[in-house]
Amino acid sequence: MAEQLYLDKNLSKKEKYETLFPQLEALLEGEKDMIANAANIVAALKEAFGFFWVGFYFVKNGVKGDELVLGPFQGPIACTRIGLGKGVCGTAWQKAETIVVDDVDQFPGHIACSSLSKSEIVIPVKRNNSVIGVLDVDSDKLADFTMEDAKGLEKVVSLFSNSF
Ligand code: SME
Repeated sequence: MAEQLYLDKNLSKKEKYETLFPQLEALLEGEKDMIANAANIVAALKEAFGFFWVGFYFVKNGVKGDELVLGPFQGPIACTRIGLGKGVCGTAWQKAETIVVDDVDQFPGHIACSSLSKSEIVIPVKRNNSVIGVLDVDSDKLADFTMEDAKGLEKVVSLFSNSF
């Protein structure tokens, strides 16, 4: 595993994803622990893109049935539990599809963990045809996520899902 990421701040977003991906593959190679791999992925994404908040939530069986529970993340402290269909994360889980929100105030039921968060992208983590969690990324700028982020992050999530 490499100890340091190679990152050029002058690259475009697309180039940053392209540069980061093989480094993530190397980072995860030989490690089968889900939490360790999730933790390194969010640290690498935070370092590469400077996201306001980036983290995983995982589906767990709680007292109220299955819910999303906070996993490894980087950024300000966050809500710990999210129900199916609740907020952007619970909606991405329910629909099993990526959701991009340009303005969180316009998303019905958005869960505001931080009032500074303005736009958001959530990618479901799929394994054996079911959603086992989500990757959530928040920005303090409006409309900060594009199709490049959706494509780049879906690839990262798929790498993660196949790593343990
Ligand atoms: N905004 C999310 C909740 C998680 S935090 O942003 C870290 C949502 O609406 O699901």
